[in-house]
Amino acid sequence: MTRLVDPFQRTIRYLRVSVTDRCNYRCFYCMPSQGMEWEERSEFLTFEEMTRVIRLFTELGVDKVRLTGGEPLVRRGILDFVEQLSALPGLKDLSMSTNAHLLADKAEALHAAGVGRVNISLDSLKPGVFRQITRNGDLEAVLEGIDAALAAGMEPVKLNMVVMRGLNDGEIEAMLDYAHARGADLRYIETMPVGEAGIGGTDYFMPAVEILARLKQHMGEELVPAKGGKGAGPARYYQIGEGPVRVGVISALSRHFCDDCNRVRLTAKGDLVLCLGQEDRVSLRDGLRSGLDDDAMKAVIRAAIDRKPRSHEFNDDTSKVALRHMSSLGG
Ligand code: GTP
Ligand code: 5AD
Ligand code: SF4
Repeated sequence: MTRLVDPFQRTIRYLRVSVTDRCNYRCFYCMPSQGMEWEERSEFLTFEEMTRVIRLFTELGVDKVRLTGGEPLVRRGILDFVEQLSALPGLKDLSMSTNAHLLADKAEALHAAGVGRVNISLDSLKPGVFRQITRNGDLEAVLEGIDAALAAGMEPVKLNMVVMRGLNDGEIEAMLDYAHARGADLRYIETMPVGEAGIGGTDYFMPAVEILARLKQHMGEELVPAKGGKGAGPARYYQIGEGPVRVGVISALSRHFCDDCNRVRLTAKGDLVLCLGQEDRVSLRDGLRSGLDDDAMKAVIRAAIDRKPRSHEFNDDTSKVALRHMSSLGG
């Protein structure tokens, strides 16, 4: 098998699959408060079609797949889909990014079906602030979802906190204590200008260096660079003493990680998005529905990877990134 290698010699082994653009929350940095135009459901790839695409990717060397949304748990049939995917021999790491609103009831079944680990958005531990950021999210339900994921044996459970100055930056330390007490990993994320909502979110931008300075003050000598190193994701990790809990920062703007990029994204409609911070995309649905065989589909995928850009354009003209919604890209 020849692997997928892009023009900058980066091997693609991570596929993020957005199964729906719908979400039961409306985080203000992700979606506008109203006027969201959803894609027609009939435009979505079926789960059978998605399974085929993911199988093709695994045959091309991708061994890590993350299910995202919108909110992946709102799409009907997700559990059966997960089961189908876990039967793929090349897939080593099947994970999900979720807001956890529906996770309490589903964590055990998801884990049994093959989701090994979850990343959960948690921007505040204060119900009022949480409601403000998510526009009516239910903190209690999310905390139950986190506990359910841990109880189901998902490993690791990673919490994602988008840090916003003046909104939740006062909770940087409290969030670490919360994660540490439960044995969950935690990542602090810089706001990214994806779509109109994301551009609005950058009014609250707080750079990773400041976040790290606060963490060092809180943890002192205990906070050290993580032994396992960077791993295959966007975060730079630290650990607390010899303990298992890892703390990461995702600094897409202040110190980007594009040189190590190993991923592409599939939208619910079947577009292959080559970079979170660039417009270019290639439809795979056309090929799937016009009856291309596996080899021909793989050729379409390779040709798309040949177009992967070197880096995002977040620090450039934001009018270019205004057109996309984070909710259809899955983060
Ligand atoms: P693992 O490292 O596999 O656990 O997952 P992840 O961190 O890639 O996934 P997650 O969905 O939890 O994303 C965390 C944050 O990283 C989100 O804000 C994503 O938008 C961001 N992110 C993930 N991949 C990329 C990327 O390729 N580029 C940029 N700029 N941001 C990314
Ligand atoms: N900037 C940074 N992170 C974002 N996410 C959604 N929108 C943005 C943005 N504009 C995060 C969510 C979730 C992850 C998948 O992406 O908080 O944790
Ligand atoms: Fe939904 Fe996640 Fe976007 Fe929040 S960040 S609105 S939870 S998709």
